[in-house]
Amino acid sequence: MGSVTRASLDKQPQEVAQMFDGVAAKYDLTNDVLSLGQARLWRRAVARAVDARPGMRVLDLGAGTGTSSLPFAEAGADVVPCDFSLGMLREGKRRNPWLPLTAGDATRLPFADDAFDAVTISFALRNVHDPDAALREMLRVTRPGGRIVVCEFSHPTWAPFRTVYTEYLMRALPQVATAVSSNPDAYVYLAESIRAWPDQAAFARRMQQAGWGKVAWRNLTGGVVALHRATAP
Ligand SMILES: C[S@@+](CC[C@H](N)C(=O)[O-])C[C@H]1O[C@@H](n2cnc3c(N)ncnc32)[C@H](O)[C@@H]1O
Repeated sequence: MGSVTRASLDKQPQEVAQMFDGVAAKYDLTNDVLSLGQARLWRRAVARAVDARPGMRVLDLGAGTGTSSLPFAEAGADVVPCDFSLGMLREGKRRNPWLPLTAGDATRLPFADDAFDAVTISFALRNVHDPDAALREMLRVTRPGGRIVVCEFSHPTWAPFRTVYTEYLMRALPQVATAVSSNPDAYVYLAESIRAWPDQAAFARRMQQAGWGKVAWRNLTGGVVALHRATAP
């Protein structure tokens, strides 16, 4: 009955939650190291795309420890960080006790219809067992005219860089993670799940199919990360 340390690509919710429980303590540090400092740049780009204003109701889904929610709170928005890993939420509560961290599953959100002006999800949708259901749920809780911003690892657009990146990702990531993470196996899953994720255009189609309008995207770090945005009709 050993505890699960690494989720498999079928993303059983229990396994995914336990995997994140296991990395919670060192999660943010590991991010900074493995992304070679790019994580901060990506977060700034998300903040600009969401364009949070005082009084705006923002849902940050898959918020983990709440680090991704801080820019919205700093902009004066009423941000609700939501996650289903109690380990990540606990770590977030310890660091930022004032954040209204909320337990909830992305595919069955504990919020009313039209409850938010904007919904955003950073580096989390790839881990959700049914991302299409999550996209529909995010639409349900967004008011008409509100927006979604999805920040997720994607596929580098320049082929030579894509090859180097895939090699770095598949070979070096778990080794580097051994030095800094509390659970290096989780980073084997990270590499596998990034490879299996749809490319920019395919993911844009999935957003449209879920009912989102005016879908567009922008690449960051040559497409290592993509920011997709859309509007609730
Ligand atoms: C890589 S972390 C990202 C955390 C944060 N958004 C950030 O940018 O640092 C992914 C998070 O997604 C959460 N997650 C995965 N599947 C979920 C689901 N079905 N419902 C809610 N949260 C989920 C995990 O628990 C984990 O905390």
